[in-house]
Amino acid sequence: MKADFDYTGCNVFVVGGTSGINLGIARAFAAAGARLGVASRNPDKVDAAVAVLGSAAGPASGYAFDVRDADAVEAGLAAFAQEAGAIDVLISGAAGNFPVLAKDLSPNGFKAVVDIDLLGTFHVMRAAYPHMKRPGGSLINISAPQSTVAMPFQVHVCAAKAGVDMVTKCLALEWGGEGLRVNGVVPGPIDGTEGMARLAPSEKARERVARSVPQGRLGTPEDVARACLFLGSEAAGYVNGVILGADGGWAVAGASMGGGLGG
Ligand code: NAP
Ligand code: COA
Repeated sequence: MKADFDYTGCNVFVVGGTSGINLGIARAFAAAGARLGVASRNPDKVDAAVAVLGSAAGPASGYAFDVRDADAVEAGLAAFAQEAGAIDVLISGAAGNFPVLAKDLSPNGFKAVVDIDLLGTFHVMRAAYPHMKRPGGSLINISAPQSTVAMPFQVHVCAAKAGVDMVTKCLALEWGGEGLRVNGVVPGPIDGTEGMARLAPSEKARERVARSVPQGRLGTPEDVARACLFLGSEAAGYVNGVILGADGGWAVAGASMGGGLGG
């Protein structure tokens, strides 16, 4: 991917940056010259990501932790900050999802997703806060269309991601005066990802989803990465508390693209 922004001299940490969309985001920042830190649960995935995320600034650093463990998150972010210096851009994107009707979802299943997506986001924001560069630090939470659009099979994810957007907005309010910006990015349906494999597993479903996007195609990790490159940069220096869609217009389409209206 061509780097549209220059992140030379910047430290960027991507939580959940070892696969899918978040790995695409991490790659984009590395291509733009940043020094990368990445984290997720599986040490093999962390090692594999570290191996591909070296940049002109040097090799990436990897940390294996579960965002549900507040102490482990704190230790991971402190270790990166000690090694690399203050964090310029923090991306929080770890999430869990599986499709299930509410009547079939156990309390622990609901809790698992809320713990990863919502509580995990809070743990990451809280742990990153003391290490962010001031002024100029940018924190970005990866949300989902479920945060504003009710969907069947997704009560746990809708509830969790709606909460994530509110964490973003509240922290933008509390931390803006310290020269930090906190924003969210909402990817649309992104091709070739774990999320799409779980929610639209067949070719027919993929095509149906693609038709429902106003831009007429599924997105790519690079589409989402460009939104993050913008939000992390000086170009977005007065953008704070925004939940930015990188979704081909999916969020504004509502029922209009699938409802057969208009002949
Ligand atoms: P993915 O490849 O499964 O990425 C999830 C990442 O989070 C992985 O690196 C995973 O690695 C890590 N992770 C999961 N649970 C964790 C935990 N408890 N603690 C620490 N790390 C954890 O999924 P994706 O589809 O690319 O989704 C990435 C993000 O985009 C998510 O926030 C998702 O909600 C959002 N999103 C996706 C789509 C889509 O079309 N795919 C659309 C809208 C929004 P480990 O397994 O090693 O922990
Ligand atoms: N349908 C219904 N319930 C499910 C389920 C499914 N497909 N998958 C898991 N659950 C339930 C489990 O039954 C369990 O509840 P119980 O104790 O009442 O039986 C609960 O969720 C926790 O399951 P567990 O497997 O212990 O969770 P985990 O912490 O090991 O894994 C998940 C978390 C379930 C979210 C797992 O799918 C995951 O790790 N996902 C990360 C990757 C991902 O989802 N990527 C897409 C991002 S958009």
